[in-house]
Amino acid sequence: MPPGAAPPAAPGGDGPEPRPLPRSGRPPVIQARGLRLALDGRTIVDVPELEVRQGEVLGIMGPNGAGKSTLLRLLALLQRPTAGEVRIDGRRPRTRAEVLAARRLMAMVFQEPLLLSGTVYFNVALGLRLRGLPEAAVRSRAPDWIERLGLGPLARRNVRTLSAGEAQRAALARAFALQPRVLFLDEPFAALDSPTRAALAGELQAILAATGTTAVFVGHDPVEVRRVSHRVVEMEGGRLRGD
Ligand SMILES: Nc1ncnc2c1ncn2[C@@H]1O[C@H](COP(=O)(O)OP(=O)(O)OP(=O)(O)O)[C@@H](O)[C@H]1O
Ligand SMILES: [Mg+2]
Repeated sequence: MPPGAAPPAAPGGDGPEPRPLPRSGRPPVIQARGLRLALDGRTIVDVPELEVRQGEVLGIMGPNGAGKSTLLRLLALLQRPTAGEVRIDGRRPRTRAEVLAARRLMAMVFQEPLLLSGTVYFNVALGLRLRGLPEAAVRSRAPDWIERLGLGPLARRNVRTLSAGEAQRAALARAFALQPRVLFLDEPFAALDSPTRAALAGELQAILAATGTTAVFVGHDPVEVRRVSHRVVEMEGGRLRGD
């Protein structure tokens, strides 16, 4: 295959194969065991075993209501499971302080960018300030990530005046600036038009690869999910297919 050529389409599939990643020798960053969430007597998530290794991007696809966002919230320690456990770097956070410490290693990007009124710089810097980074480090790191997401000329613009695509770039800059141990992305491009989402998916993939960031990416578009992820699992009725 010539350099830069697109990978061949999956046989019988509707897009490229995910990018393979050698898993051996990479420690697991997230390990879920016997993970179950029941609400009002209904099982929403039932995942016996799931691992994400260092540097791996796990894609999760599935129909509306499959439990993808709920699984993400469980892995991100934002929701307590009814049963089972989530380990981060081999440790199971138990106390509230341990959960908070583990959550400080994570970043999330949602369909809605959840920016506060203020400039792009203010929003990216705020994420770092909230994590207690010294001001000198904030001043060096925030502009780097704003630049890297192509927002250099917009750094002083109020986020209220940004397009949806620019706002999502700001949310990605804020998340990557944190240098998270794990990045969770829940349909980050769902509200964008197709040329914008294709461009952003390509940039996201390149940044994930360059930084070696461990990530979980939930999406609906199979081509986009495969492009960003090393491995893709299908979810339906709260279960991963094949479980
Ligand atoms: N707090 C809650 N109480 C009761 N049921 C809930 C709650 N949160 C989610 N659910 C239910 O859990 C199921 C899975 O929801 P979830 O949002 O995880 O699905 P999803 O796969 O992310 O869907 P979508 O593709 O639409 O985002 C849905 O049936 C939803 O109604
Ligand atoms: Mg969802």
